[in-house]
Amino acid sequence: MEGTTPVIARTREELAAARSRVSGTLALVPTMGALHEGHRSLIRRAREIADTVAVSVFVNPLQFGPDEDFDRYPRTFAGDLAACAEEGAGLVFAPSRAVMYPAEPQVTIRSGPMGEVVEGAARPGHFDGMLTVVMKLFQLVRPDAAVFGEKDAQQLAMIRRMVADLDVPVRVVGAPTVREPDGLALSSRNRYLSELERETALALSQALRAGGDAAAAGSAPSAVVRAARAVLDKAAHAAPPLDLDYLVLVDPTTFTEIDDAHTGPAVLAVAGRVGATHLIDNLPMRFGPSEI
Ligand code: PAF
Repeated sequence: MEGTTPVIARTREELAAARSRVSGTLALVPTMGALHEGHRSLIRRAREIADTVAVSVFVNPLQFGPDEDFDRYPRTFAGDLAACAEEGAGLVFAPSRAVMYPAEPQVTIRSGPMGEVVEGAARPGHFDGMLTVVMKLFQLVRPDAAVFGEKDAQQLAMIRRMVADLDVPVRVVGAPTVREPDGLALSSRNRYLSELERETALALSQALRAGGDAAAAGSAPSAVVRAARAVLDKAAHAAPPLDLDYLVLVDPTTFTEIDDAHTGPAVLAVAGRVGATHLIDNLPMRFGPSEI
């Protein structure tokens, strides 16, 4: 573990001063804090691709719906800073809401059709708010690269699309989902779960594994979805129950659903609520002849 305290920038001026002192390449890891092993793996990936790593810690109000958990979202800055220091981040940008949004933004990023399907259909406006803050972070931090978790597969696809469509000069890098030994994908929201809720939540990764096993055995997309759905159907009757938002098998670049004629990469994506906690997970897979 590194243990060197990163420079902390809370204002635009402090960030600009810290940024001007960075020599070589800079990779940004945007986060909403409550850092866990998944975030640490993103910082480690960022260190592999750049000379200096910046981590942003900002719970972005724009990407939460009115009935979502913005107020209770975990804020653990002291622990986040310790994690950044241990992983060797050089800079932590932790702006307040007033620094990030000095005025209510009128011009924002529209996520387009991909932002209205799957997770975007379950959380209207979420991807517009997410892309807007990511674009602002890119403008403020001016990184050469940015690292995002593949657990938020649709978010990652949308950021790649924004960068391509708007010619944003940032290399976007994905890093694999980190899981607990029993399969639960790491998420800052896992800390909301009671022991029983956590048991039910395991159905998400178990469903993905059932789908992944079916795909590996050569099943068609529709059979893969059926295999995963069987696991989720059981969890719908558990105590507490899983309230499924969606289970879809999609093209990883457009997030449109695929059919049995599909060949090439796909993502099996699932989301649901256990108690008041919204959880998502996904598994990449491939159909048709394997790549040489
Ligand atoms: O994945 C997250 O934590 C957030 O959506 C992000 C990318 C930091 C934007 O607020």
